[in-house]
Amino acid sequence: MAMTKDDLKKLAAAKAAEQVRSGMALGLGTGSTAKHFINMVGEKYKSGELTDLVAIATSVRSVELARSWGIPLVSFDTHPVLDLAVDGADEIDPQLNLIKGRGAAMLWEKVVATAAKRFIIISDDSKNVTILGSLAPVPVEVIPFAADAVRPYLEGLGCEAILRQNDHGEAVRTDENNVIFDCRFDSIDDPQRLDQLIKQRTGVVEHGLFIDMATSAIIAGNGEITVVSRETE
Ligand code: A5P
Repeated sequence: MAMTKDDLKKLAAAKAAEQVRSGMALGLGTGSTAKHFINMVGEKYKSGELTDLVAIATSVRSVELARSWGIPLVSFDTHPVLDLAVDGADEIDPQLNLIKGRGAAMLWEKVVATAAKRFIIISDDSKNVTILGSLAPVPVEVIPFAADAVRPYLEGLGCEAILRQNDHGEAVRTDENNVIFDCRFDSIDDPQRLDQLIKQRTGVVEHGLFIDMATSAIIAGNGEITVVSRETE
């Protein structure tokens, strides 16, 4: 029987969970794939297979999930550097550049990924793209005060910027109480340049382009796992 997307996400998450060692400070991602990873690490922690873990999570919901397993949550004041962060992605290109943020957590996700010595992406193979922007919009987190001023700037970069709304037609708020524009570009030929252009606009807090950040990606498809790595070890 063919594996479902969720089966593939679990396979990738399990492979990443093998990388976790007792004593590590972990960064815990957000989304359906990261949720599998947290549950797998949580089970190993609860059974005693992994000990002395601490973690920083990338969203309130991942904080709650980690807490439900009893994984001790810390903050950057005691752990400014993390050993390993593991998270999902919405798009992955051959250079391991990413689009993230469908779950609205890209700000904390980027903070955690930046603080980590290793940043592993886990995914099913539906997220593989040749050029970023092919499947997913780039989410841009903006302070509410600046939203209407920032939107035309973003559209001037060549996208349609759509305010993310919930089922009740209200603007989605992030864990930092900001709003999100989902910016749909046909394709992103120069992700490094777009990264800078979006980031430089006052009122933008962060965006979902993760350039040169992932150290490896574990991608599951058709029952097979592919590991793409920029790690030297
Ligand atoms: C959360 O904000 C996102 O960056 C997720 O990591 C990304 O959307 C992948 O989500 P899934 O694992 O649910 O596909």
